[in-house]
Amino acid sequence: MPLALITGANRGLGLEFARQYARDGWRVLGCCRDPDAAHELASVGAEVMKMDVTQAADVTAASKRLAGTSLDLLVCNAGVSGARAPVLKAITQTDFDQVMRTNVLGPMWISSSFADCMPPGGKIAYVSSRMGSIGAMGNAGSALYRASKAALNAVVKAVSLELASRGVTAIALHPGWVRTNMGGAGADIDAETSVAGMRAVIEDAGPPVSGHFFDYTGKEIPW
Ligand SMILES: NC(=O)c1ccc[n+]([C@@H]2O[C@H](COP(=O)([O-])OP(=O)(O)OC[C@H]3O[C@@H](n4cnc5c(N)ncnc54)[C@H](OP(=O)(O)O)[C@@H]3O)[C@@H](O)[C@H]2O)c1
Repeated sequence: MPLALITGANRGLGLEFARQYARDGWRVLGCCRDPDAAHELASVGAEVMKMDVTQAADVTAASKRLAGTSLDLLVCNAGVSGARAPVLKAITQTDFDQVMRTNVLGPMWISSSFADCMPPGGKIAYVSSRMGSIGAMGNAGSALYRASKAALNAVVKAVSLELASRGVTAIALHPGWVRTNMGGAGADIDAETSVAGMRAVIEDAGPPVSGHFFDYTGKEIPW
């Protein structure tokens, strides 16, 4: 039975990843900040694990629990948007710390802590955003979120290079504009469609495309 670990799995896209992989026969380790409140995650068949991605102790404890285990897939999904302000409206230190710690530092810690669990053929999918693409940026706003996802994209590229010799694939994904708490009710697509698309991209991904950035339809996005 293949094994997947998913962060931010208690709601939104993370919960949908957990639901679809569990439905298809995977063993799913669903990570969240508050396991006692993760009833929906447990009900889709995932094993619930505590992990606030901004807390080094949580990440270390989870990776120790998995020592010696082979992870077929790691989905770094947890993320926050922060205030959706442009650069020229001052960003607060509090907002900066929360967004950068969640969207960048967390995935960096998780990459280093779980790298030894990834076998040749293993895959790491980082849920980024097209808003982090400098090449595709056509409008401003949400500057902090954009900066955090651009930084995450650099992390993905670096991890892909660091793990290439081990045969592990690392890709960045844009889920589309999705109806979740973050995306809002007016977004383009539902979580089921987004995750089904991202799963197909992950399934097709291998070493030749490691270090690349795709949307949920498989279209490549410029960095
Ligand atoms: N929805 C979109 O349109 C869209 C578009 C582009 C990219 N994305 C990306 O997709 C990913 C998932 O977003 P979503 O739309 O599903 O958002 P969401 O509904 O707001 O869910 C965010 C998830 O991240 C978790 N999380 C936040 N901070 C965390 C932390 N410090 N440690 C662990 N988990 C934490 C939340 O847990 P709590 O319940 O504990 O807060 C929740 O499970 C994010 O990385 C986001 O940037 C979304």
